[in-house]
Amino acid sequence: MLDYKFEDNKSSRTLVLFHGTGGTKEDLIPIAKMIDSSANILSFEGDVDEAGMKRFFKRKGPGVFDEADLISRTHNLKASLDQIIDEKGLNKNHLIAMGYSNGANIIGSLLYHYESPFKVIFLHHPMMPYSDKEPCKQEGLDVFIGAGKNDPICSNDQTLGVAKVLRDNGAFVDIHWHDSGHQLTQSELSAAKSFFETKR
Ligand code: MLT
Repeated sequence: MLDYKFEDNKSSRTLVLFHGTGGTKEDLIPIAKMIDSSANILSFEGDVDEAGMKRFFKRKGPGVFDEADLISRTHNLKASLDQIIDEKGLNKNHLIAMGYSNGANIIGSLLYHYESPFKVIFLHHPMMPYSDKEPCKQEGLDVFIGAGKNDPICSNDQTLGVAKVLRDNGAFVDIHWHDSGHQLTQSELSAAKSFFETKR
């Protein structure tokens, strides 16, 4: 079971959060509350230690994922998520996932192994989790992607690739581009909030 923090707001919606490399389960909570102040919050913490930095899966180098590790941790994460949903009595049909960087990539990986685990997802600075696989069908999924035109980690081609494979498999995808790099910007967070207001 992955470490997590849970805030029960007795809502039918639950925001499921995944931090970036070197982050913690606390990082995205203020952003989640800005997006939806009344949803429950379930925030995971990665169990991979890379030189003291927490991550959700191992990598072989910058941007080079350890695919076997990613696959096995994706299944473990889904098992943790299902167990928490059962234990807390959460509505599994209204899960909203939000991830930044490494956290966005583990959400992306879940979509390659499970059909429609989420209703809405926020992928902040994602990359393609796999180069040679197709995601499962994601009919009805609404996806917000936040991307920096000058992101040195996630190229514009990576961003467009994520959007394309998800659209090809039935998701609605909106990309918000900003002129900065890998960091989350205020314009990106405001766009995410506006996107959510039309989707919930
Ligand atoms: C990853 O390893 O998931 C990506 O390179 C993003 C990062 O964490 O730097």
